[in-house]
Amino acid sequence: MLKIAFAAPAFPKTGAIAVGVLADGKLTATAAELDKLAGGALTRAIKAARFTGKKGQLLDILAPAGLPNPRVVLVGVGDPAKLEARDLADLGGAVTGQLLHSGESEAAFVIGEIKGAPDAGARGAQYAFGALLRGYRFDKYKTTEPADKKPSLKKVTIHCKEHAAAKKAFAPLEAVAEGIFHTRDVVSEPANVIFPKSFAAEARKLEKLGVKVTVLGVKEMTKLGMGSLLGVGQGSARESQLVVLEWLGGKQKDAPLAICGKGVTFDTGGISIKPAAGMEDMKWDMGGAGVVLGLLEGLARRKAKANVVGFCGLVENMPDGNAQRPGDIVKSMSGQTIEVLNTDAEGRLVLADVLWYAQETYKPKAVIDLATLTGAIMVALGTVHAGLFSNDDELSNRLTAAGKAVGEPLWRMPLGEEYDRQIDSDAADMKNIGGRYGGSITAAQFLQRFVHKGTPWAHLDIAGVTWSDKARPTVPKGATAFGVRLLERLVAEHYEG
Ligand code: BES
Ligand code: MN
Ligand code: ZN
Repeated sequence: MLKIAFAAPAFPKTGAIAVGVLADGKLTATAAELDKLAGGALTRAIKAARFTGKKGQLLDILAPAGLPNPRVVLVGVGDPAKLEARDLADLGGAVTGQLLHSGESEAAFVIGEIKGAPDAGARGAQYAFGALLRGYRFDKYKTTEPADKKPSLKKVTIHCKEHAAAKKAFAPLEAVAEGIFHTRDVVSEPANVIFPKSFAAEARKLEKLGVKVTVLGVKEMTKLGMGSLLGVGQGSARESQLVVLEWLGGKQKDAPLAICGKGVTFDTGGISIKPAAGMEDMKWDMGGAGVVLGLLEGLARRKAKANVVGFCGLVENMPDGNAQRPGDIVKSMSGQTIEVLNTDAEGRLVLADVLWYAQETYKPKAVIDLATLTGAIMVALGTVHAGLFSNDDELSNRLTAAGKAVGEPLWRMPLGEEYDRQIDSDAADMKNIGGRYGGSITAAQFLQRFVHKGTPWAHLDIAGVTWSDKARPTVPKGATAFGVRLLERLVAEHYEG
């Protein structure tokens, strides 16, 4: 993992140096100082490269005259008045991305006051957060990778006058990053390593942070009548598990916020088996549960003053002599019966019992679920926005705002009676598929049938955003942990203090 440090203003003589440039190529005070030391090399490079200082633009200057450093990175900051926390983290991440494989092992981000921008301490913390997030890499199984293919960058130092304040502001962000990394780790792990019981063992690691961890196995879930969840796992050699993570950092009497995650550790489709091409992606069908794990870790590490309970419904969906068949009818914990017309629409079957259990057991003030639920949401929203479905405008608006603030955007999708009718069944209370059109909506309607009247609920369909084929400023390619920052922000803004 990338090492992050904070120090007083200085231009180190070795390693890369990053400084900011404002809109229209105007040097920040710090950049101007460095330019002077470099005999105007920065100004000349800006002209030569048509560098405008637009937000996020980067310019790599190699071996600048007058400086001992092998490279200087100019970072476009744009209009300082428009810089939000999320932009700052993005800038830190973008510079880090630029330097990760550059050959440099150390980088100094040197920052000073910028008129109209957040103060340097707050900026430094966000730059560091972005750098740390971008520096993540899941490479534990690469045993023969040559050194020149590995990232060279080991350490980023934020230099500013307010370095003590920056370090202090960074502490809770670092806690959240630890959670994000845990999410990315379990989502990246293959299904022969992460399965329901090994996921539960990962969750148990949070006990030392003060999280209460409870694990229900098949025996307990059978007693509770969770026929819907259990039906999905019945073809697997791996025992299904329900993991409950309690972080009670708030007031004793405060009803908790419940966060439920789909944790299908591998989704073959079951008897309604998926085609071979791309099936390996279904190792990350536990992305929702992964977010629950990382969120609770982040909250516990930063000792959030909120009551949050996480629920991970963990199953493996396999074809087998004992697997559930299309047409089977199962009874959920709620008492409602379900005709399973497609065993590949399994996530909703898992969440039906998890949602019900969460509400019955904890009487939460709101319930949010996350699930890599439908391919249809990728058709609708691509790989940028996650789908948001909710019965509550306030919760919905808060989630949308939090997502925007951290760069994990949500797009609200409709719910309605007519869609709901699409999942009525001739043989049971409902069927688990709603026909060809509106697949993400009918999936959400299905979940809503397991939400108590009067309980604010939101469903995030994260199928399009849980894994990324390309790097973004604060997210390397691979597992994104989309949802951890968003929900962390939601808790901080609305459920703490
Ligand atoms: N896990 C999949 C959805 C998915 C697809 C997630 C691609 C990530 C990437 C889910 O269990 C599934 O198979 N959904 C089906 C539902 C259908 C059978 C009604 C789908 O989307 O095709
Ligand atoms: Mn499926
Ligand atoms: Zn699935």
